Amino acid sequence: MMKQVCLLTCALAISFAFSSCEDDDKMDMDTIEVPDGYALSAGTSTVFLASSIAYDTEASWVSGSYASRFTNGDGLYDDVRTSSNSQDVGGLGPVYAGYSCGSCHRNAGRTRPTLWSEGGSGSYGFSSMLIYVSRRNGAQFRDYGRVLHDQAIYGVEPEGKLHVEYEYQTFSFPDGETYELAKPNYTITEWYADSIAPEDLFCTVRIPLRHVGMGQMMAIDRTEIEALAAKSNYPEYGISGRVNYITEKGVTGVGLSGNKAQHLDLTVELGFSSDMGVTNSRYPEEICEGQAQVNQGSLMGLSYDQLDISTEDMEDVDLYMQSLGVPARRNVNDEQVILGEQKFYEAKCHLCHVTTLHTRPGGSTLLNGTQLPWLGGQTIHPYSDFLLHDMGSEIMGVGLNDNYVSGMAMGNEWRTTPLWGIGLQERVNGHTYFLHDGRARNLVEAIMWHGGEAEASKNLFKQMSKADRDAMIAFINSL
Ligand code: HEC
Ligand code: HEC
Repeated sequence: MMKQVCLLTCALAISFAFSSCEDDDKMDMDTIEVPDGYALSAGTSTVFLASSIAYDTEASWVSGSYASRFTNGDGLYDDVRTSSNSQDVGGLGPVYAGYSCGSCHRNAGRTRPTLWSEGGSGSYGFSSMLIYVSRRNGAQFRDYGRVLHDQAIYGVEPEGKLHVEYEYQTFSFPDGETYELAKPNYTITEWYADSIAPEDLFCTVRIPLRHVGMGQMMAIDRTEIEALAAKSNYPEYGISGRVNYITEKGVTGVGLSGNKAQHLDLTVELGFSSDMGVTNSRYPEEICEGQAQVNQGSLMGLSYDQLDISTEDMEDVDLYMQSLGVPARRNVNDEQVILGEQKFYEAKCHLCHVTTLHTRPGGSTLLNGTQLPWLGGQTIHPYSDFLLHDMGSEIMGVGLNDNYVSGMAMGNEWRTTPLWGIGLQERVNGHTYFLHDGRARNLVEAIMWHGGEAEASKNLFKQMSKADRDAMIAFINSL
C-alpha cells in the first residue's frame, strides 16, 4: 500500500518534470511506515496527525534526556510570564507584546490575531502580533525602539495602541465569480511619550508564523538555497529570488526565519527580550532601556539586576521547537487533491513554493551548542525556497509593500512562506487568516494578493476554471 502511494506521486513528479523529490522519500519510507492516504513531509520527523496538536507533537526520535529537555522547553514556551523576579515564570515587562511564546504561537501555530476581532491591539494584556515602527528615514525613535510594545505590567503605560481599519474592494475572476480584498490602514494612538506624526512614521504589522518545520529550517542545506537564488531566474515568469544575508553574533549567513528572512536562528533570545521583556545573556538590558519609563517598575520593587532566564533554559526552548514533528501530507489519494497538485505546478507556484529541499548531513546546532543529528540528511517538503521575492506594490495602491527594510529586504520583498502544515491551521488555531499581517481571510484572498514576481503565477490561477481553482485550494489544504 505504502509503495503504491509513492509510485503514484513519483509518476506525477515525472510528468511535471520538477526536480528530484519523491525518489528520495522512498529511502526514508524504508524506515518509516506511512499510513495510507498520507505522505512524508520531513523524513523521519514526519508525524501522522491531523488534530489540533499536529504542530505541537515531538518527532519520534525524541527520547531520553532529550525528552525531558523537550518537556522543560515546552513548559518555558507556554508558561505565562508575570512581572515577578522568578527565573521560571517572571521577568515580564515593563512593556511587552505577549506574555509567553505560546500566547502568540498557540499550539506552536499562529494565534488568532486581535486585528480582526478587536480592531487592533488586544485588551486584557494581550496582543497576538508584532508592530515594528521606524522613522521614514529608517532610524528608530528613542522612546519606542524597534517594536511598539502595546501592553505593559501594572503601573507602566503601554508604548501605544494599534488600530486598523479595512478598506474593501470587489474583483472578479474571468468566469464571473467574485472575490473581495481587504486593505489594512494602520494608525497608532495613545503614544506614552512624544506623539509621532504620521508623516514621520513607517509601521508594519506581523501576525505570528506557524512553527511548522523549525528544526528542518535550521538544518537546511544553505548551499541548496544559494543555488536556487543563483539559478532561480525564470525570466519567462519574471521570478528571481535572492538571499537575505544577515550578520548576527558576528557571523554572516543565509537569513531564514521571519517574514523577510531577517534572522539566522529561531530568535529565542530576541523573542524573550523583545516580545516579552525577559532579559537574558544575549540581551541583558531591558528592551526599553534608556526610554522615559524604564525605571517605573523598579519604583515598585522589581529588580532589573538579574537575568530573567538562563541560557540553558533558552536552549531547551530552542530544542523544543526544533524537535517538533512536521505533520504529514493528507488525502494524497483524493482525486480533487491530485488534480489540484497538477494545477499548482501549472500555475508555477512551485517556482517559489519549492516542494523539495534537503537538510545538511550534520543536522542542526542549538543556541548553546547541543547537536540534533536526527535533523540531518533528510528530504523535506517545505513548499518554500526561503528566498526574498518582490511581491508588488500595485494591488489597491499598495500591494504587499510595507516600506519596511529588514537587512537586505526592501519594503516590497518577502520570504516565500513555507506552506507545510497550512491546511491544518484552521484546526490548530481556529482561523484562516494568512499573509504577513493576516489581511487575507482565506486561501483565495492570499493568492490574489500576490503581485510583482508572482503576478504571472497569480494570473495563471485567476484564469483557471472554478473547478480547477477549487482543486488547487483542496491541494493546499492537504499540506
Ligand atoms: C507578541 C506575539 C509574539 C510572541 C510573544 C512571540 N512571537 Fe514569535 N513571532 C511573532 C511574529 C509576529 C512573528 C513574525 C515576525 C516577523 O516577520 O518579523 C514571529 C516569528 C517567530 C519565528 C520565525 C518563524 C519562521 O517561520 O520563520 C520564531 C522561530 C519565533 N517567532 C519564535 C518565538 C519564540 C521562541 C518566542 C518566545 C521566546 C516567541 N516567538 C514569542 C509573534 C510572537
Ligand atoms: C514569486 C514567488 C511566489 C510565487 C510564484 C507564489 N508565491 Fe505564494 N507567497 C510568496 C511570498 C513571498 C509569500 C508571503 C507574502 C506575505 O506574507 O506578504 C507567499 C504567501 C503565500 C500564501 C500565504 C501563506 C501564509 O501562511 O500566510 C499562500 C497560501 C500562497 N503563497 C500560495 C501560493 C500559490 C497557490 C501560488 C501559485 C498560484 C503562489 N503562492 C505563488 C511567494 C510566491
